[in-house]
Amino acid sequence: MGQKKRAEIICRCNNVSREVIEKAIQNGCHSLNDIFDQTTAGVGACGGSCRRKLKPLLDYYLEHKVFPEKIIEDRTGKDYPRPPVGLPCGDGEGDGGKG
Ligand code: FES
Repeated sequence: MGQKKRAEIICRCNNVSREVIEKAIQNGCHSLNDIFDQTTAGVGACGGSCRRKLKPLLDYYLEHKVFPEKIIEDRTGKDYPRPPVGLPCGDGEGDGGKG
């Protein structure tokens, strides 16, 4: 179950699958900036429309420690910040104090 979902492309600009993003989160990317840096999802030419999916996916995982079956897109129109050029994540448990 879920094989198709894992192959789902979340970031079409940079062709980043849900599987890649979920692995990054499991490996310690616990902020959007971490995900941007690690996977390039969210920093493509469109300006980051996939962040509407990245944020709910990340938030759900941080709260429940599992991924949702279906990603509920954030349609509130929030503009998630673009990342600074940053460090790769996964070298620690925390979020590096950024937030
Ligand atoms: S779809 Fe992810 S940055 Fe454009």
